[in-house]
Amino acid sequence: MYKIGIIGCGSIGRMIVENAGHVDVKVVAIYDDILSRAKDISPDGCTVAKNFEEFLREDMDLVVEAASQEAVQEYGKAVLKSGKDLIVMSSGALLDCQLKKEMIDAAEGHNSNIFIPSGAILGLDNLKILRFMDGDISLKTIKNPKSLGMEDLTGKKVVFKGKATEAVKKFPFNINVAASLSLATGRDIDVEIVADSDVSDNIHQIRARGEFGKITIDIENSKFPKNPKTSYLAALSILSLLKTRNDQIKIG
Ligand SMILES: NC(=O)c1ccc[n+]([C@@H]2O[C@H](COP(=O)([O-])OP(=O)(O)OC[C@H]3O[C@@H](n4cnc5c(N)ncnc54)[C@H](O)[C@@H]3O)[C@@H](O)[C@H]2O)c1
Repeated sequence: MYKIGIIGCGSIGRMIVENAGHVDVKVVAIYDDILSRAKDISPDGCTVAKNFEEFLREDMDLVVEAASQEAVQEYGKAVLKSGKDLIVMSSGALLDCQLKKEMIDAAEGHNSNIFIPSGAILGLDNLKILRFMDGDISLKTIKNPKSLGMEDLTGKKVVFKGKATEAVKKFPFNINVAASLSLATGRDIDVEIVADSDVSDNIHQIRARGEFGKITIDIENSKFPKNPKTSYLAALSILSLLKTRNDQIKIG
């Protein structure tokens, strides 16, 4: 059993706390800039930090960021410089090339690692081939307008078409999938976002093509009841990363 801390005590943070025992980790510290949220989910014996400095002082092997892109910007480097591994859920933050470089430097210099979980999709493992092979990749995300913060929109409408780097700025809470795919493939991928009032699940359609063949991945994610912007699969993917982190056989 190894020790972890969590930044961000919303849907995903809560899910990790509730399932820590199943994946052989002990949550020793949690931090949220809204203290009551951290208090709300705190397990027995866990430090509810009042500020980030208090959080980071805790003895832990790994920190899970389940908060926001801002949290990655504010705390990412400090976590890595303290020698702790970091799981980044708000992967959109790492499309900022300067921040990404600074975080890689911090990790290299302090023997720590940055993990990006599969999140709300599948296929990141093998799509890494696009870093060294020619090929095309694109993502179409279809969500209910409410999940995109467009309460009044009815029917079906393309609300974004462009590159992942622009998409994460316009839809920071929704489009970490585009960011993770870009980071995995080393490209600023093409993204289309569709608002459709007839869908309730979050749908991601990944298409890739190259000498290797044709890849079609369609995912229909169930949402968290309390936070329709987040997919249940995303939280589960952190649990699976935590569970397999120290495996001798690394799969995928
Ligand atoms: N990679 C993926 O596929 C994927 C999928 C789903 C969610 N996400 C991302 O994961 C993150 C967490 O998702 P969630 O559904 O649990 O969100 P949530 O809104 O339910 O909870 C986030 C919590 O983090 C706290 N927080 C935000 N910024 C903070 C900061 N700078 N310092 C301290 N606390 C801060 C908030 O107060 C809130 O309690 C979001 O950024 C979301 O976009 C990524």
